[in-house]
Amino acid sequence: MRTPLVAANWKMNGSRQFNEALLTQIVAGARQCADVDLAICPPHVYLDQARVALANTEIGLGAQNLSQYDDGAFTGEVSARMLADIECRYSLVGHSERRTLFGEDDGTVSAKFRQSQMYALQPILCVGETLEERDAGRTEEVIAGQLDAVLGVAGVFTLTAAVVAYEPVWAIGTGHSASPEQAQAVHAFIRERVARQDGTIARRLRIIYGGSVKADNAAELFAMEDIDGGLIGGASLKAEDFLAIARAASTTRT
Ligand code: 13P
Repeated sequence: MRTPLVAANWKMNGSRQFNEALLTQIVAGARQCADVDLAICPPHVYLDQARVALANTEIGLGAQNLSQYDDGAFTGEVSARMLADIECRYSLVGHSERRTLFGEDDGTVSAKFRQSQMYALQPILCVGETLEERDAGRTEEVIAGQLDAVLGVAGVFTLTAAVVAYEPVWAIGTGHSASPEQAQAVHAFIRERVARQDGTIARRLRIIYGGSVKADNAAELFAMEDIDGGLIGGASLKAEDFLAIARAASTTRT
């Protein structure tokens, strides 16, 4: 059985005061979903604040991004070593906003994935198609390309300490989630593609869904066989919504 993971991606939101209240409420409410792994990915500048708030809890700390390089002359960048030093457990890699707004190609994403693993941060590899690609019937081709690019560089064995997040670009921040059936089909496709290389790793791999997950659609998404939790954007900025989503992962798996 795969333990569900529900991760909050705050994106570029928050302030010290806002975060303090949000983290306090999440820590208090997390006790009700002890059978779900939770993670919080705040902006880099608030990682230490979150680290302190999450100390002595089971909630993991995650980064939204990391440099593809080791320490050195890379002004403005944050290395995997630094993130590990500040006790991050996870790092998002290849989020669609990074790919589209900041020009990260599969080569950069693969380098970040490798860098993350080198410092024992679990990469959460984000993959997903645009609406145009879906409408053109290219969803599987796009997902396979994004996945294979990383596996080609890192090797399938690295998925023993990684998570894959399926985030259809058209569902992110739009209020229009993929239907449970649409999401399940892509999750099953990802698992099957990994299984071609290693069945055991594929069975154990957590594949989480992101894109307009809310308190009222989480349970039906998480009930699908190959959906092992969620990557939550907008709804993770409200403690009660995030906790309701986490509980949905809990009740569907027990
Ligand atoms: P929303 O939940 O706001 O659609 O964002 C999803 C996402 O991009 C999480 O990484």
